[in-house]
Amino acid sequence: MTTYAVTAASGHLGHLVVEELLARGVAAGDVVALARTPQKAADLAERGVRVLRGDYSEPDTLREALTGVDRVLLVSGDTPGQRVAQHANVVEAARAAGVQRLAYTSLLRADTSGNPLAPDHRATEEALAASGLLTTVLRNGWYLENYTEALGRYLAAGEVVGSAHDGRVSAAARADYAAAAAAALLADDGEDHVHELGGTSFTLAELASTVSEVTGTPVAYRDLSTEEHVAHLRSTGLDEGTAGFVAALDASLAAGDLQTDRDDLQRLVGRPLTTLADAVRAARA
Ligand SMILES: NC(=O)c1ccc[n+]([C@@H]2O[C@H](COP(=O)([O-])OP(=O)(O)OC[C@H]3O[C@@H](n4cnc5c(N)ncnc54)[C@H](OP(=O)(O)O)[C@@H]3O)[C@@H](O)[C@H]2O)c1
Repeated sequence: MTTYAVTAASGHLGHLVVEELLARGVAAGDVVALARTPQKAADLAERGVRVLRGDYSEPDTLREALTGVDRVLLVSGDTPGQRVAQHANVVEAARAAGVQRLAYTSLLRADTSGNPLAPDHRATEEALAASGLLTTVLRNGWYLENYTEALGRYLAAGEVVGSAHDGRVSAAARADYAAAAAAALLADDGEDHVHELGGTSFTLAELASTVSEVTGTPVAYRDLSTEEHVAHLRSTGLDEGTAGFVAALDASLAAGDLQTDRDDLQRLVGRPLTTLADAVRAARA
């Protein structure tokens, strides 16, 4: 019997991974869901999953929750500035608890990417490599939800505004990344793996035309320079730091950091991926 643990199970991705493990036939009693806020994963406890407190900043909770676990998915934390140390706590707790395989949700092309989020992921990948554990690096691209959650804004403004030029983004649905993570946890060939994960790529102009086609409301892409983009974001109320960060994400997209032609995601998921048009349709409904 193999026991699986998923961290941040109170969040969208972690929760979906637990659901996917159950859907793929893992017994609920063989799954440990770690959550900083266990009440948010109460529905999983009701289904027989062991929901335990696991806070990346409290190593004792991690060691205790990972005792007896064979394979762990570490979902990256959401606190820049703290998360390298937090992830190191999980890696150390997994090692101390005798975990065999540690999987981690990293970022597409984390080893070379100029994306402002990449350094944290790179440092965590290095900690994984030094751990002596079997490792699976899941280098996730952008979520389609990053765009579909802004659908109302696009439709109200009649435009998508960015500074990604003709850069392509291989975004995919969060649920597809979750399915890939579950499949990667279930597979065990005794090897280390690095998966570059993303869906069919599109430019932000193609995003705008897909939104127009699916909704019937004309939406154009307005491409700006980085400086103009920062000024535009400031005019919508963002502070200087946040505006600069958002524009830097588009610069990373323009540089090709968020594109992959690899079919790792499709192969792991084993069924057709959610397309951009599907995601826009679902968000509209
Ligand atoms: N590729 C992309 O486009 C993209 C987009 C957004 C995020 N991400 C990354 O992917 C991760 C998962 O995404 P998501 O959609 O599931 O995000 P989410 O729904 O916001 O969930 C974030 C999770 O991180 C947990 N967390 C934060 N600090 C923690 C700590 N100290 N100890 C334990 N858990 C902690 C939160 O716990 P609580 O429930 O207690 O708050 C929550 O469960 C994010 O954390 C971020 O690193 C990627």
